[in-house]
Amino acid sequence: MKNSSNTDFTTKIGSVVLPNPVMTASGTSGQGAELSRYFDLSSLGAVVVKSLHVKPWSGNPSPRLHPTSAGMINSVGLQGPGVKEWLKTDLPLLEKTGARVVVSIWGQTIEEFAQAAELLTDASDTVIAVEVNASCPNVEDRTNLFAHSAVATSEVVKASLVSGRPCWAKLSSNTPYLPEIARAAKEAGAEAVTVANTLLGMAINTDTRKPVLGAVRGGVSGPAIKPIALRSVFDTYAENPELPIIGVGGISTGKDVSEFLMAGATAIQIGTATFANPRAPQKILKGFSKWCKDQGLDQVNKLIGVAHG
Ligand SMILES: Cc1cc2nc3c(=O)[nH]c(=O)nc-3n(C[C@H](O)[C@H](O)[C@H](O)COP(=O)(O)O)c2cc1C
Repeated sequence: MKNSSNTDFTTKIGSVVLPNPVMTASGTSGQGAELSRYFDLSSLGAVVVKSLHVKPWSGNPSPRLHPTSAGMINSVGLQGPGVKEWLKTDLPLLEKTGARVVVSIWGQTIEEFAQAAELLTDASDTVIAVEVNASCPNVEDRTNLFAHSAVATSEVVKASLVSGRPCWAKLSSNTPYLPEIARAAKEAGAEAVTVANTLLGMAINTDTRKPVLGAVRGGVSGPAIKPIALRSVFDTYAENPELPIIGVGGISTGKDVSEFLMAGATAIQIGTATFANPRAPQKILKGFSKWCKDQGLDQVNKLIGVAHG
């Protein structure tokens, strides 16, 4: 798709073709069509909804959000209505917006991923892909997130293929083995990897002398993590240049988008920036378009991985 800047923004992520590489990040733009009152959701590459469990999930005790230097820390704990209820109430609203929808799923066991994915088999074609949030605790292996293990990541991907949709595996930067875990996701059938989720952190209230968050630890996001997310994309691409990577972490300007593509991302997602400005995804896409125009770039694909070698 060419726009006013005469750049071709068409982006191919495995078998999925998007009109441009800018998406929302799971958990940061509501459960459904909430952002549609601020801008046209169909103008984005895709909208990724908050991770859904097979059952309704209440999340963690409050407080669950806290500002940090250049970002925020959250322990929302994957609160959500469950896949069935979401299909009934949120998907129809998203369908009306014309957005391409990516459904994020999570579970505490491999079986729960399989059950959540199974419920998506009958969803409409508005659902173009399933993002498997492997960056959540594996109750069958208490020491680990699924995404900290190549074997567990491979198992959640295989279990989620039952949805019959292209599968993207959302990974974690909290491990030195990210590139090999990405390869395991690909070999298990993932068409892309999303790099990456929040980084584990905490905050302490100096008056109460206790942790701020009800759940003590939380995920750090926003510009503070951008260099880490960028390095994670770079490292993942270096070892898996044929695997589409969706970059996410601290993106807040059009130039940030260019950086992630140069590091090796095929597309990107915008999370925390949306809390400061609900129009951020639209604004960042415009900023990126302008940057491409100023560069005289004819195809965004030409940026992918250029920072290597
Ligand atoms: C409040 C909040 C809730 C989130 N919920 C989810 C979620 O449900 N599933 C998921 O895969 N990632 C979730 N994330 C992580 C984001 O999708 C994203 O990977 C991360 O925040 C880094 O991007 P950012 O710096 O642009 O926010 C959440 C992040 C925040 C801040």
